[in-house]
Amino acid sequence: MVQKVRKAVFPAAGLGTRFLPATKAQPKEMLPLVDKPLIQYGVEESIHSGIQNIIIVTGRGKSAIEDHFDVNFELEHLLGSQKKTDLLQQVRDISDMIDIAYVRQKEALGLGHAVLRARELVGNEPFAVILSDDVIEAENPCLRQLLDIYDFFGATVVALMEVPKENISAYGVVDADPVDHNGAKNRLFRIRNMVEKPKAEDAPSNLAIIGRYILVPEIFKSIDSIQPGAGGEIQLTDALKHLLRNRPVYGYKFEGKRFDAGDKLGFLQATVEFALHRADLGASFRKYLSTLKL
Ligand code: UTP
Repeated sequence: MVQKVRKAVFPAAGLGTRFLPATKAQPKEMLPLVDKPLIQYGVEESIHSGIQNIIIVTGRGKSAIEDHFDVNFELEHLLGSQKKTDLLQQVRDISDMIDIAYVRQKEALGLGHAVLRARELVGNEPFAVILSDDVIEAENPCLRQLLDIYDFFGATVVALMEVPKENISAYGVVDADPVDHNGAKNRLFRIRNMVEKPKAEDAPSNLAIIGRYILVPEIFKSIDSIQPGAGGEIQLTDALKHLLRNRPVYGYKFEGKRFDAGDKLGFLQATVEFALHRADLGASFRKYLSTLKL
């Protein structure tokens, strides 16, 4: 029997340098797409995928994240007294949503290091990792798609996306063989090797790892045993490469559209598309956009 995935880890202790100065005193994960912070999209994806147990890895200056998922009595009282029941419900829903545990990464030493900080809270069981600056619009949540592969193989699975050559050196890139699964060709891959931020000419493929992972607990030992890699950081990709020596690792080209909301252009693209898809804003926003002389 494959052990069930019950916990999702949200590394949120990065410095967000690509989004300065907005991220100088405010966590990147709290930047709102339309009216919802990035991390809430990730938490909702986790809940819609069946995972309620959330662990957020925070760092210095990230208390706004904890406050966001906490109860705000003053605000609830005000909205209640003004009879703004819809808004009151929305605010309550956030704090009622889930039980969240926090752990701190004192220094931003890399994504692998951030995941390792969750070791005690995760324990000896498989777990998900969500990077909330990768926002993914999908009919079936991206994390759910990965969980379905995990449930079948009982092995590590990472989300993959095709990326043009000129951008590939910003990602972890895999060398992988396609595996037929459930009638779908060229979606599932068995990974042979991977490399973090390769030069375009050294990239083993155009398949990049995107911020959704299902990891087996052995990954912690792998993170423990690797040295800092690209950018002097403890990289999760390097730990996965280490894990590959003894364990299978799969990659799944998910169905859906991913936005890199940790990057200014990606964030703007996500804002426009999410606003256009909103029932309350879409029509008037579309009308406004059509008045722009582009
Ligand atoms: P990024 O690669 O986007 O790094 O991290 P960053 O520091 O957040 O942002 P930039 O590149 O400087 O603009 C991917 C994810 O890993 C987390 C980040 O919070 C983000 O969710 N992370 C990264 C950590 O939690 N700790 C780290 O040491 C590094």
